[in-house]
Amino acid sequence: MGFIGRQQEYDGPSAYLLSLLLAAARNELITSAIYSQLVKSADIERIPGLLGLSQMACSEDRDHYHGIVECIDRFKAGQDSHSTHATVLGSWQLGSQKLENLLRVLRQMEASSVKAYREICQITLGCDYRIFDLSYRNLNNNMEHQSKVDDILTKGLLHSLTLAREGCSNDFVEGYMA
Ligand SMILES: [Fe+2]
Repeated sequence: MGFIGRQQEYDGPSAYLLSLLLAAARNELITSAIYSQLVKSADIERIPGLLGLSQMACSEDRDHYHGIVECIDRFKAGQDSHSTHATVLGSWQLGSQKLENLLRVLRQMEASSVKAYREICQITLGCDYRIFDLSYRNLNNNMEHQSKVDDILTKGLLHSLTLAREGCSNDFVEGYMA
């Protein structure tokens, strides 16, 4: 990993570190919700590998979310910790979106999580082992999620295009076959 050995000054929880944790928690909550919606999608079994990924990543990202919120609440000790969930989620709503759009949002948010965790690891390496260990684990899980979503958006799309060429319609390729 690029950040190993790059210990930086650390003088306790900073506003910047807290903002990174909030960003990571928000991403985890949203990706968990999207994976959960994908599991319920009627089309999911038409995309190879998507059901297994969605089931695994939904559970892992929900666990990541709770772990990061615990960190945030420790930072905010003495303050109102019940507002963390509302602060994290903000005004975000999933709404109804096509499968392809959900996958593109997932790819973007997994990449954003990976970026946030890399920074958190850089800041806490050698200084706050609890946050570092949690973030390092979450980083690796989300790198795997991102890689698998990438695979599905490329190989899965190609597979769907093949089906479409063979006469099997599929929402996943709408817009590409026009
Ligand atoms: Fe994830």
